[in-house]
Amino acid sequence: MRTLQKYLLLISCIPLLIFYVFLARINNSTVTDVQKPEVTKETRSKYLQTKVIHTVKHSHKNRSCIIDEWTKYDKTARSLSRDIFCDEFAEQSDILCRWYLDQQNITDHKTCLLPQDGYKVPNIVYYITFGHYNFRMEFYFSILSAKKIQKPIAIYVIGNVPPLGKWWKKLLADVPDIKFIQRSMPKEISGSRVRWPAHASDIVRLQTLIANGGIYMDTDEVFIRPFEPLRNFPITMGLVDINTGMGNAVIVAQRNSTFLRALYKEYKSFNGSEYYANSLQAALRLWKENKTALHLEGDRFYRPSWYEDDQLYVQTGFNWRKTYAVHVWSKKNSHRIPGTIEEIDNWNTTLGEIFRYIYYDDSNLRSVVELKTKY
Ligand SMILES: *[C@@H]1O[C@H](CO)[C@@H](O)[C@H](O)[C@H]1NC(C)=O
Ligand SMILES: *[C@@H]1O[C@H](CO)[C@@H](O)[C@H](O)[C@H]1NC(C)=O
Ligand SMILES: *[C@@H]1O[C@H](CO)[C@@H](O)[C@H](O)[C@H]1NC(C)=O
Ligand SMILES: *[C@@H]1O[C@H](CO)[C@@H](O)[C@H](O)[C@H]1NC(C)=O
Ligand SMILES: *[C@@H]1O[C@H](CO)[C@@H](O)[C@H](O)[C@H]1NC(C)=O
Ligand SMILES: *[C@@H]1O[C@H](CO)[C@@H](O)[C@H](O)[C@H]1NC(C)=O
Repeated sequence: MRTLQKYLLLISCIPLLIFYVFLARINNSTVTDVQKPEVTKETRSKYLQTKVIHTVKHSHKNRSCIIDEWTKYDKTARSLSRDIFCDEFAEQSDILCRWYLDQQNITDHKTCLLPQDGYKVPNIVYYITFGHYNFRMEFYFSILSAKKIQKPIAIYVIGNVPPLGKWWKKLLADVPDIKFIQRSMPKEISGSRVRWPAHASDIVRLQTLIANGGIYMDTDEVFIRPFEPLRNFPITMGLVDINTGMGNAVIVAQRNSTFLRALYKEYKSFNGSEYYANSLQAALRLWKENKTALHLEGDRFYRPSWYEDDQLYVQTGFNWRKTYAVHVWSKKNSHRIPGTIEEIDNWNTTLGEIFRYIYYDDSNLRSVVELKTKY
């Protein structure tokens, strides 16, 4: 009889127990929900440590950080988060992914783990758009080509303000996973005023590649075929020609590249009045000093050259399919690109072919394609 009573008591307790557990859960989630808007940098970093990666090595807040090196030449680098660039997860993560999520106030960075795909260079593509960046049609084709041809795990556009104009809007519609990261524009490098946004872009592209590795592209450089073979080299740049210098419109680099670190150190002396000194000329000089330090491309990044612009804008017949990328440039800006996709459809030039190839996966004039599909 007494055992039966005990049982009854126990059984009657069960719903109560379940209810209690349920209550505790509700309570828990309410607590986190309430706290969410108030995460500080401190708790955010703790959250990462417990949530992102489970094999946690111990963190040293005082570990040396690449940001300190950058800050010597570029004071705006001081605003970058050491937690993101140099904590114990940095090495295993796409740092820019975390930077982006941080700006979106998203604390869970688990999705930013870098996939191990066997290449030296991660398949990530960067663009930089400092200043009031009126987004032109060729910029649209550049980023669209990254998405369709290179197929990277992420495309980042770094700028002080988002780009403007209808082509940027169309890009956001056609490549919705593009990630814009806000970063202030360096106004001064090593004490010398930055006169051209291009110089701010030059130094920030090096910082980005050193921190994260990947493929930097100018917005007027389009992908023609996947860069996979180049992702096996620690660093690839291309010679425009021996007089112009080493181009920095395309840089393919593994993280912490020795060559790029050396190039970065050249900013110790910067003269804002000299347009190419720290970009094309410094890179050329470093390569001349040690020709094994860099995998050199040239024709497959920068042909037709800026002085061969008729081959891009007027003629056809250039064998662009053998290149990796094509630069949409022209000497003295003497050529114009049509303003609409409809005009590109039957623009009988090399650039017309390339743009149609990117847009339609078919370089033929649309009038020809239409004829073919009709008959
Ligand atoms: C980190 O630096 C601070 C001040 O610079 C110092 O008080 C602290 O002991 C250092 N911590 C470690 C782990 O070195
Ligand atoms: C993130 O939080 C900051 C500070 O509360 C706020 O200024 C910013 O607008 C938020 N960003 C987004 C994308 O919600
Ligand atoms: C980058 O390379 C330098 C020189 O080889 C090395 O001292 C440094 O620890 C490396 N940094 C990272 C974050 O791997
Ligand atoms: C910077 O370059 C300009 C143009 O080459 C030159 O006139 C000027 O003296 C240079 N300034 C310094 C501080 O070297
Ligand atoms: C040249 O660069 C390669 C690759 O980074 C390096 O192994 C070699 O030591 C460098 N040679 C000299 C003379 O600096
Ligand atoms: C396109 O231009 C080439 C010469 O560059 C010419 O041979 C060809 O006939 C043109 N095609 C059309 C449809 O006009």
